[in-house]
Amino acid sequence: MSRKIRVLVANGSPKGEYSLSLQHTLYMLGQEAEVEWRIAHIGEALSPMEYDRAWLEGAIAAIRWCDAIVWTTPVYTMLVPWQVIRFLDLIAEAGESRIFAGKYATSMMTCFHYYDHLAEEWLRGTSKDLGMCFIEGRTADNTDMLKPEVRASTRFFMHEFLEACRRSAPVERKSAPLSCLPIPDFRPSRADGDAPAPKSSQRRTVLVTDEYRQDGNLSRMIDVFIAAYPNSVEVVDINEFPYEAGCQGCLRCELVGECDRKDGFQQFYMDLVNTCDVLVFGMNLEGRYLKPIWKLFLDRSFANGHRTSMMGKHTAYLVSGRLRELPNVRQFLEGKDQVGRENSMGIISDEAEDSLHLEALLQELAGRLARATEARYQKSVGFLGLGGMKIFRDLIYSMRGVVRDDHRFYRERGLYDFPQRNTANELFNLAMGAAFTLKPVRLQAFQRMPAMYIQKHKAIVDSGRE
Ligand SMILES: Cc1cc2nc3c(=O)[nH]c(=O)nc-3n(C[C@H](O)[C@H](O)[C@H](O)COP(=O)(O)O)c2cc1C
Repeated sequence: MSRKIRVLVANGSPKGEYSLSLQHTLYMLGQEAEVEWRIAHIGEALSPMEYDRAWLEGAIAAIRWCDAIVWTTPVYTMLVPWQVIRFLDLIAEAGESRIFAGKYATSMMTCFHYYDHLAEEWLRGTSKDLGMCFIEGRTADNTDMLKPEVRASTRFFMHEFLEACRRSAPVERKSAPLSCLPIPDFRPSRADGDAPAPKSSQRRTVLVTDEYRQDGNLSRMIDVFIAAYPNSVEVVDINEFPYEAGCQGCLRCELVGECDRKDGFQQFYMDLVNTCDVLVFGMNLEGRYLKPIWKLFLDRSFANGHRTSMMGKHTAYLVSGRLRELPNVRQFLEGKDQVGRENSMGIISDEAEDSLHLEALLQELAGRLARATEARYQKSVGFLGLGGMKIFRDLIYSMRGVVRDDHRFYRERGLYDFPQRNTANELFNLAMGAAFTLKPVRLQAFQRMPAMYIQKHKAIVDSGRE
């Protein structure tokens, strides 16, 4: 008989026992004989701002006890829930981060596959940083587990994982460790003698930040940006909001329209995004993500459902930290920007080699942002935005009887762009489908295709019209 593997199911879902993700992990473990497990309900225990310290000690003891951890978690706002990040932070604060070293880890996530790859990459990179051997996990939507063939694959996956733990199988590293090199100190030139230029208040601009008027690069970046920007800027420090707790994933916001938390965040957030023309973000990086307070803030903004409130407006990002080492954070910002049609005019980090250059970049960004807002410039959208939007579109449409506010928002803005709704295109394909059964027609199409494909575009170019 082989040795029983001790597994800790680290449940990141704030829904605790009611977690869909948990059902997946429990199913897989329940199919194995030589395994024992414990569950740490991280998401549930760490939702309130005041948490139970005895619970944390118990969780730390469970990590010491186990051979392997299965990060069992939903995807929240393109990552794991805030509570999971908080869990690792609390362990680090307790000086206990070393307890993870040498253990095996994998992930079982449920979601709608909206940027789930960023969540898995974060779990993988963070587990590796803690000295763990991370083996590729699984993601599932809410119907996958109901299919016998999917269950067969999940059983194979868990068996392989446990065998890898038993054999101490070697595991490759996917991302480089984070360098601990300090960021250059940003010292902008001072123009004390100059009177500040008068500001216009025509475009309501809000700068949301996790650091303001402190002795950090981000505070100085904000000052330079504000000085160069022609409109007045209202600064909101997200640390100052009196959060009652993290998002608990209860979906009261979707079903009833109001957040179950009573701290007023939903109103605060909606007032912010609905009334501003321009939103600027000032963000510090930490670990493999932003400062954890951002995750609390972003998860709670789910109270606005899938309604992309910044659509058509304009944004910009000032980031302090080693962004070049964290392409996934950049992709998160770009993905959020593209799906939400937020028209980000740039992401500037303080990695610039000299202060003069960074100052020039910030001034340039401030000018570009103001000009783009006036011109109502709309950026083009690529794979990150189109792909993400199609996932949202299909999700909202399939749940339209339940998520009524989202449905109305999508319908009113023409976001239901299903190809089958285009009657002209349907007729075209019907006619072509019939004609293309004949080879001579296909040959003729082949010869005429290059000219026909650009016919209308060329007419615009040749006419010189606006
Ligand atoms: C606040 C919040 C944010 C979410 N963000 C995402 C997301 O970015 N991508 C995604 O695919 N699903 C997202 N979802 C959907 C959940 O991942 C999905 O419902 C999951 O199955 C819930 O698992 P659980 O029951 O284990 O908590 C989100 C749900 C909530 C409540």
